[in-house]
Amino acid sequence: MNLAETLRAEARDLHPRVVAWRRHLHRHPELAFEEHETAAFVSERLTELGIAHRTGVARTGVVGEIVGQRPGPTLALRADLDALPIAEANTHDYASTRPGKMHACGHDAHTASLLGTAALLMQHRDHICGTVRLIFQPSEEKLPGGASVMLAENALEGTAAIVGQHVMPLLEVGRVGIRSGRYMASADEIYLDIIGRGGHAAQPHTLIDPVGIAAQLIVALQQLVSRRADPRLPSVLSFGRVEALGATNVIPERVHLEGTFRTFDESWRSRAHEAIRDMARGIVEGMGARLELEIRRGYPVLTNDEQLTASVRAAIEAYVGPENVVDLDLWMASEDFAYYTQALPGCFYRIGTRNEGRGIVHGLHTPQFDIDEEALALSTGLMAWLALDGLARQAG
Ligand code: NI
Repeated sequence: MNLAETLRAEARDLHPRVVAWRRHLHRHPELAFEEHETAAFVSERLTELGIAHRTGVARTGVVGEIVGQRPGPTLALRADLDALPIAEANTHDYASTRPGKMHACGHDAHTASLLGTAALLMQHRDHICGTVRLIFQPSEEKLPGGASVMLAENALEGTAAIVGQHVMPLLEVGRVGIRSGRYMASADEIYLDIIGRGGHAAQPHTLIDPVGIAAQLIVALQQLVSRRADPRLPSVLSFGRVEALGATNVIPERVHLEGTFRTFDESWRSRAHEAIRDMARGIVEGMGARLELEIRRGYPVLTNDEQLTASVRAAIEAYVGPENVVDLDLWMASEDFAYYTQALPGCFYRIGTRNEGRGIVHGLHTPQFDIDEEALALSTGLMAWLALDGLARQAG
C-alpha cells in the first residue's frame, strides 16, 4: 500500500472515534472566546495522543506541535472552536444541550477532524519532514477574530505556511472544493444615523425629515457599487436594518441604518470606506441633517497563495481523485482565516458535507444545519496527507 492508501485505511478505522468527538462537541457548544470546555477537551485528547501543546493561547485557543523525525519546515494546520448564538432545531441524539447555542458552522467537525489528523500524524512521525503545528483557534465568528489574536501572540511564528478547511453544505459529501487566489470577501459593518428635526407629518416644511434623506441615501450609495467600483471586482453594499420609529403622522428625529460592505481588494476596500463617508456626509448635510457614521472593519480578503494552492490541489487530487475536486467560485462571506493568508502563505479549502438522500441540505448558520459525518473520514486522512506530502515537497 502506498502512503495515501494507508492513510485512507487508518482514517476509516479512526472514523468512529472522530464522530464521537464531533458529537460530544456538538452537544456542548460554546460561543466565541468562551470555549473553555472545548479547549479542555482538545487538550485532553492531545495529552492522550502524547502531543505537546499550550493552552490559553489567544485566550481560549490551544496550540500543539508534532515534531517529525526528518528535518524540514513547519506547517500549520488550523481548526476553529466556537459555536453560534442559534437555537438548534434538530432533534437527533447529539443535538445541542445548551439553549440558544449551536455548532451551526461546523466548527465541531473542524476540531474533531484536526484531532483525528493529529492522531494519524502521530502514527507517521517517521514520515514527517519537519514539524506540524496544530492551531485550535477560538472565535472565528466574532470580531476581532481568534486568528488575529493568534497572530498577535506569535502563535504562527516560524511557520512556512498554513492550511485550513471548512465544511460546505452546498458540496456533495466526498467532494473537495478549492480556489486559487482571491476566494472570500472582506466584510465591514456600517452603522449610520441621520439626525433631522422631527414633528407633525402634516408640516414637513417646518421639519428636517430623516426618513426621506435615508431613502435618498440608500439609493445614492448604490452608485458606489455601480459607478465607483471596478466592474471586474465584485463589491456588495447592503443595508439590512433601517429604523425610523415615527408613525403615520409623526416624522421621527432620527433614522438608524446598519449595513455591510464586502469586496475583494484591500486598496479598494479602504477607498470605498472614504467614498461612503464622503457621499453620506454630502447627501445628509446637503439636505440639512446631521450624520453619525461608523464603519467597523471586519475580516480582510481571504487570498489563497497561488503556489501553495497549486501543490495542495495536486495533493488533494492524488488523495480523492481529480473527478472529486471542484473549482470554487468567489464567496461573498468572510472568514478570519483571511488574517493568516495576509501574514503567510495560506490555503483554505472546502469539504463537501451534503447528502440530499438523507436530507442533509441546510445551509451554514441555520438552525437545521447538519453534516454527513462520512465527510470526517475523508477530512482527517486528507489533512494528514496534505501535511506529510506538503512538508516532504518543501523539504525537497
Ligand atoms: Ni465557519
